[in-house]
Amino acid sequence: MPTHIVILAAGMGTRMKSARAKVLHRVAGLPMIELVVATSESLDPQSITLVIGHQADAVRTALERHPGISFVVQEPQLGTAHALLTAEPMLRGATGTLVLLYGDVPMLTAKTLKTLVQRHEAAGAAATVVTAVLEDPSGYGRIVRSGEQIARIVEERDATPAEREIREINSGIYVFALDGLFDAVRSIASTNAQNEFYLTDLVAVFRKRGQIVETLKVSDANEIRGINSRRELAEVSRAVRQQKALSLMADGVTIEDPATTYIDRDVTIGRDTVVHPCVFIEGRTTIGANCEIHSGVRLVDAQLGDRVVVHNHCVITNAKIADDAAVGPFAHLRNDADVREKARVGNFVELKKTVLGAGSKSMHLAYLGDARIGAKVNIGAGTITCNYDGVNKNTTVIEDGAFIGSDSQLIAPVTVGEGAYVGSGTTVREDVPSGALAVSAGKQRNIDGWVENKKKSRG
Ligand code: UD1
Ligand code: CA
Repeated sequence: MPTHIVILAAGMGTRMKSARAKVLHRVAGLPMIELVVATSESLDPQSITLVIGHQADAVRTALERHPGISFVVQEPQLGTAHALLTAEPMLRGATGTLVLLYGDVPMLTAKTLKTLVQRHEAAGAAATVVTAVLEDPSGYGRIVRSGEQIARIVEERDATPAEREIREINSGIYVFALDGLFDAVRSIASTNAQNEFYLTDLVAVFRKRGQIVETLKVSDANEIRGINSRRELAEVSRAVRQQKALSLMADGVTIEDPATTYIDRDVTIGRDTVVHPCVFIEGRTTIGANCEIHSGVRLVDAQLGDRVVVHNHCVITNAKIADDAAVGPFAHLRNDADVREKARVGNFVELKKTVLGAGSKSMHLAYLGDARIGAKVNIGAGTITCNYDGVNKNTTVIEDGAFIGSDSQLIAPVTVGEGAYVGSGTTVREDVPSGALAVSAGKQRNIDGWVENKKKSRG
């Protein structure tokens, strides 16, 4: 049967106490709505409709990477049933099965969704509700059964004390047969504590008509956790990160302390790589096999080859580090830094938009910006590429095998030729030909007895 998806994400999320729409708050590095969208895409649906309202434009922008989505704006927001009705024009003429998801329930798995759709279609149900039994059901709608059958869902605000004792809750995730669905939604009234149109009332509507309503109880309650507050945001984020760590470990990555390691969902890491405690690996970072990432490192959208070592306390954003290279401790690689095979970056070295060629070294205290550095180059301590003349960023080229002495400044644009030497303390303003030595410091003179004379003159 064809599958269509509607995701409700119009609510303001009052309990977040935030100026930002709730579904844009990040869970393990991604806006929570993106996690929900990614899961729905795995069902290969005919359509995905997102019901938006608060900060509609920001939500659209956040989902630019998912071009197949249709958006409808629900304004004002009169409840979950009203939200679904808003999506009706997008689904005109559609047949088959409708999966209804919430933008603030990001941990639902594709596997559960598939089981849900199969069960629903096999039963010929009008609706199938995903439920879970929770230790603490507070805040959720409760599943009221008559015998085995679900009879209705009651919101906590509208529940009697006895109903509040029920620990089976409504996840807010449902599957509906599209045939007749919207007529049934239109019959819902807003006679409840919030004067809203509750989608949960559909269960009673269908049951009264003698139609089949099924339930699917999930065993992992995390899957249906909704995020309504900052506290829940932190709890769900922790659970998502923990899942990520478990799946990486299952694939052969050593994570010494998953509790203090923050790895975003889209990160990939190869076998036998070791991640030490207190490491942040974010965005679309990829790390190869047999690497070692030491404590205090932050990697954002970085690409690391195999056998790379990142020593303690490096910040690496938008950078590449090739096989067998090592960086840090205390290195800063950013904005298209490109460290090639077996190169070595040491402490207090910053690389920006710079290629450090294969086997080259910059071990101490350097700023290398907008530079193309060849293979087997040695960059001495304290070297600075003066890449900015106040107006433009200029390029420094250092060819293969060159040697830059300590405390040198390279005033770009400038080229140091293959195998050339730059003496310590040189200010390089002109190109250095291949094989030459450049020196700019004046000749040294020593004043004999100067110290003794100074003492005497002080009396
Ligand atoms: C809802 C369910 C409750 C369930 C819980 C699970 C109803 C009436 N209640 O309660 O039974 O246990 O979810 O998490 O459905 N939204 C709109 N437009 C609206 C109202 C809401 O798009 O007019 C969206 C929200 O952005 C959110 C979702 O629907 O993504 C759920 O709304 P929320 O207000 O959080 O419902 P709950 O009170 O959590
Ligand atoms: Ca909610």
